Amino acid sequence: MMMPLNALKLACRTVAFKLQRKNSDPTSDYDKAAATYDEYYSKYLGPSAQVLLDKLPVRQGDKILDLACGTGFFSHRLAAAIGPHGRLTAVDISGGMLERNRRGAQARALENIRFVQSDAMGVLRVTRAESLNGIVCGWGICYLDHAEFCIEVQRILRPNGFLGIIENKSTSLKKVSDLFRRVLVRNPDAIVKNIAIDLPKDASHLVRTLCKRGLVAIDSWDGAVSVPCMRGVDVAEYVVKSGAAAGFIDALDPAMADRIIRELAIAVDDERRRGGEVPVTHEYCALVAKRA
Ligand SMILES: C[S@@+](CC[C@H](N)C(=O)[O-])C[C@H]1O[C@@H](n2cnc3c(N)ncnc32)[C@H](O)[C@@H]1O
Repeated sequence: MMMPLNALKLACRTVAFKLQRKNSDPTSDYDKAAATYDEYYSKYLGPSAQVLLDKLPVRQGDKILDLACGTGFFSHRLAAAIGPHGRLTAVDISGGMLERNRRGAQARALENIRFVQSDAMGVLRVTRAESLNGIVCGWGICYLDHAEFCIEVQRILRPNGFLGIIENKSTSLKKVSDLFRRVLVRNPDAIVKNIAIDLPKDASHLVRTLCKRGLVAIDSWDGAVSVPCMRGVDVAEYVVKSGAAAGFIDALDPAMADRIIRELAIAVDDERRRGGEVPVTHEYCALVAKRA
């Protein structure tokens, strides 16, 4: 009887925080994950991001915006490709992630990057119309308002300018998310904010949402990457240190967060002991579009 009551309590709390627009903020979770992000996230998802990079029509001298740039996976490669006469603006809301990006650029002697610590939408709103050759947003569009993003991108891109997007799908890490929810049902008071992360359904959803009016899809695709995590503690460590749990941890009561993560690890082990599978699989989608 306890579980249905708890599930109802969790649902009521979730709806109340949503109505109050008391949303979690991924910034502090990314600040904490910044030191381990590349070793955990980029190590596994980097090759898929490289496929997107290889499809972008980048030229020497281009002016490009890298939104939600993080530790610089896209920033450093794009800055190298546009050369010393190009200009890359790298934007991120997390000071920790941006600092890693800055240090990486220094180590690679890249001097054509301007770093901006800000909300990505804020930067888009103040960027001049038809001023950029390209906009890239790697694994970050889930934090942005898709409709407003679409309008701003079309306003800012020059004719023939490109947009590159890669993002986890709403089905990404599904089994781990289900177990996280199961843990929350046991601890409904642990959730203190609404988790407002808007993951696309798939590549065709990305095309339908973003390619309106003057933006035309050139290529779009779906993919998946599995992360080998043997024990529950490895899964818990992965989601925290890779940043995959960013915005989820911030939604938890700070006094209960460590316990919830420990319970997630136990839930993974229990599920596997019962014969269930807990794949740690990132399902993602990507889009290359061009302004007509
Ligand atoms: C999964 S990481 C991706 C980093 C990088 N693009 C990459 O490909 O490795 C998501 C990034 O989005 C940033 N972020 C989240 N919300 C943001 C916002 N509203 N504006 C700008 N950056 C944001 C986070 O701080 C984090 O660095």
